[in-house]
Amino acid sequence: MSVEVENVENLKISEKVDKDDDGDVVDPWNVTSKSDKGIDYEKLIKRFGSSPIDTELLTRFEKVTGKPVHHLLRRGLVFSHRDMHTILNMHETGKKFFLYTGRGPSSGAMHVGHLIPFQFTKWLQEVFDVPLVIQLTDDEKFLWKDLSLEEANRLAYENAKDIIAIGFDVNKTFIFSDLDFIGQCPEFHRNILKIQKLVTFNQVKGIFGFGDSDVIGKIAFPAIQAAPSFSSSFPFIFGNAKIPCLIPCAIDQDPYFRMTRDVAPRLGFFKPCLLHALFVPALQGPQTKMSASESNSAIFLTDTPKQIKNKVNKHAFSGGQPTLEEHRELGGNCNVDISYQYLRFFLEDDERLEQIRSDYTSGKLLTGEIKKILIETLQPIIHEHQERRAKITEDKLKEFFTKRKLNF
Ligand code: TRP
Repeated sequence: MSVEVENVENLKISEKVDKDDDGDVVDPWNVTSKSDKGIDYEKLIKRFGSSPIDTELLTRFEKVTGKPVHHLLRRGLVFSHRDMHTILNMHETGKKFFLYTGRGPSSGAMHVGHLIPFQFTKWLQEVFDVPLVIQLTDDEKFLWKDLSLEEANRLAYENAKDIIAIGFDVNKTFIFSDLDFIGQCPEFHRNILKIQKLVTFNQVKGIFGFGDSDVIGKIAFPAIQAAPSFSSSFPFIFGNAKIPCLIPCAIDQDPYFRMTRDVAPRLGFFKPCLLHALFVPALQGPQTKMSASESNSAIFLTDTPKQIKNKVNKHAFSGGQPTLEEHRELGGNCNVDISYQYLRFFLEDDERLEQIRSDYTSGKLLTGEIKKILIETLQPIIHEHQERRAKITEDKLKEFFTKRKLNF
């Protein structure tokens, strides 16, 4: 199936999983590709009906914010959007919007792949100076995983410490667990119900691939992820003001927001705007994303410097040649080399990255050497993260979760 037209919101993605002709699968629960280059993101943009982020948009971004764009945008790692021009127009005319993102707390172990969308969100919060809401979908993980309610809820607060450690401004950020918040905020609950009344089983079947034997909790859940897109879900932050929202997320979350954008106008709400990031690939190669349940596929935020070193050396898929002679002669392939791919996410210095790319491609830089550069890039990032996380007190944690006005 192919959808060329932009803005086809209500598109059906598949029967059970959203697979394209080449076998790429991208939905909220599966991300795999049969190609050794990994997911074909250009095709995904067409299939999802979003818009590519082009140079024109980036130039406008810099003009409107007066700041250089984030390296994830510069390097095409945040690669697709919906209605980003609307957001830039608003900022240009001094109007406010808010940011919304989230995390499904399925395990206590967050990995470096999880850092990416949150680091990017933090940058957006700083350059636009806007409030941010972060949803922790402990209810979702209870429904989908083999987790008790208590455990899913506990993981939400554990993960929140990692999220806070990324450096969000407490005066501008509200974090909530669905399990705790829904009962505390009738307006949020009402918006969930309004959404549930507008979406049929047939539609969610089409969008998410649910089947007749899926439990009804799953079928109703998408409305819960949709509701934070609307400012009226948070009256203690926004009062009566109707404010549009921008959602930075990984591309696999897009189906939720296609559904949200479809119902928004019928409820008299703004459609949420989106920025899509691609995934950090697994250490084993670009066919799958880093996964917390595959401990050798990921570098965890709790890993020691030694574990980081061993994992990269042992598991990071290499685009280098089998022998030293061949490598010197033919050079390495950066398109599949995981160390290089990770450096694109984690090494901010453009000049240094370009030097590494050209040296590895020419064969001047060896696999062991590029791995060493990656190890030395990741070790301090993770070490500093651990130090900041250790300093988060229970009081600080509580503050982020307290219903309150935000500064903006
Ligand atoms: N469903 C997401 C996950 O499993 C969590 C989430 C909730 C989210 N709301 C979001 C992610 C908004 C991005 C944007 O990770």
